[in-house]
Amino acid sequence: MGAIVGFLGYGRMAQAISEGLDKSGLAPYKRQLASDVAKASLAKLREKRGFAEARDNVQLVAKSPIVVIAVKPHQVRGVLSEVGDGMAGKLVISIAAGVTLATLADHVHQEASIVRVIPNLPALIGEGVTLLAAQPKTDEHDLENARKVFSAVGEVYDVPESLFNEGTAVSGSGPAYFFLVMEAMVRAAVRLGIPWDLARKLVAKTCQGAGATAMARPGIGLAELRDQVTSPGGTTAEGLLALERGGLTSLFHDAVKAASDRGKALS
Ligand SMILES: NC(=O)c1ccc[n+]([C@@H]2O[C@H](COP(=O)([O-])OP(=O)(O)OC[C@H]3O[C@@H](n4cnc5c(N)ncnc54)[C@H](OP(=O)(O)O)[C@@H]3O)[C@@H](O)[C@H]2O)c1
Repeated sequence: MGAIVGFLGYGRMAQAISEGLDKSGLAPYKRQLASDVAKASLAKLREKRGFAEARDNVQLVAKSPIVVIAVKPHQVRGVLSEVGDGMAGKLVISIAAGVTLATLADHVHQEASIVRVIPNLPALIGEGVTLLAAQPKTDEHDLENARKVFSAVGEVYDVPESLFNEGTAVSGSGPAYFFLVMEAMVRAAVRLGIPWDLARKLVAKTCQGAGATAMARPGIGLAELRDQVTSPGGTTAEGLLALERGGLTSLFHDAVKAASDRGKALS
């Protein structure tokens, strides 16, 4: 990628993206900068990871052609009012949930390219999903660089910003839904006498395998994949019937809609 990537805020998500950029070789630590109000923990990480130093947010922006805004949503306006004018000519990527492109544009120099993304938690292990939307004027070179940054921690999908609340309710909140489903399966397995450790491994690996199979066979419908596991008169059919009696499908309709509505209310 070549350009220096600067992180405004170096918390959990920024550290994950930064590690992915280093591991993938797209931007090794020595081509990254970070600033954070938590100076002591940042200094430790800087020593360990070996990225260059920025005295403060203003200097970080001055030195970084690509700036990732990675503070909490309620901190974004404050940070941008401090550095907004220095953003002219920069590629500015915000990961802050619920902060729209229009809000970012209000606080950032108009000659900046602004991209908004929603990564998700598995970015921590390079298995994330990132939704990406940009201002219409953003050129292809900047868009490609923004996609590259997040491809270092998983898959990137261009999604119209008008679908961000809905998308966030799926991929942003999704890991929590699956953790809950996995926890329920582990408890059910333990109830039947399977030891905790083994139950967790069986469930997590089965979940991973099902996801990987769905990704590897995009031409096969999910219902067809399910049918492949369901023999007539067999065990899976009984399990699936119990899940449907409990209203699993309509529960997911309600859950995703509720999360999306909450996203709209918050933004
Ligand atoms: N975690 C997720 O799964 C996830 C998923 C998608 C999107 N996001 C978005 O990612 C962003 C960061 O989330 P996170 O979980 O990484 O948060 P985090 O761990 O709290 O990281 C934010 C960091 O920025 C620092 N900071 C606050 N004000 C600052 C300032 N003025 N200048 C420089 N640094 C400042 C914070 O310090 P203090 O702690 O001292 O305030 C903190 O170290 C959020 O906007 C969130 O919406 C997170």
